[in-house]
Amino acid sequence: MHQHEIKIIITQYHDVNELPENERQLIFAARGSAPKAYAPYSGFKVGAALMMDDGSIVVGNNQENASSPVGSCAERSALFWANANFPDVAVTAIAITAIDHSGNRAVNLSPCGACRQALLETEIRFKQPIRVILDSRDQIDVLDNVKSLLPLSFNVDSMFLAR
Ligand code: THU
Repeated sequence: MHQHEIKIIITQYHDVNELPENERQLIFAARGSAPKAYAPYSGFKVGAALMMDDGSIVVGNNQENASSPVGSCAERSALFWANANFPDVAVTAIAITAIDHSGNRAVNLSPCGACRQALLETEIRFKQPIRVILDSRDQIDVLDNVKSLLPLSFNVDSMFLAR
């Protein structure tokens, strides 16, 4: 019998000015996108910004629907647009933020499981880690890659495929 411990490292900042310029810009892009979300049902407006390997930024936000499962999270709105329009460009970072009705930032933001799975696919596809920057009310949490947010993931290596 063996036990394995899985450790994840989260780097926490308390001031956006502590982050490097490109990551700060990415957070500002996510913050700019959140108010444009369509979230009449939850009132929870999420903004995501992707840093592409060519230095460009792609943003997205959540798009809800009266039939709730039809809606899309901010992360996947941004990711699928980026992958659809720049199929050969890796994503190197994602910043995510969220606000409520009054514009107050979410306390402890973290991407849902489905978005982690979608982001992991892109990380594996381009063989490049995607930094994850979580912009919450009292802190900014940074992880070096998506894999650390989804240990024991189902991925292409989980399938019985000869590769
Ligand atoms: N949402 C996101 O956009 N991203 C997440 O990571 C978590 C949840 C959205 C989905 C829904 O529109 C609203 O937030 C409340 O769940």
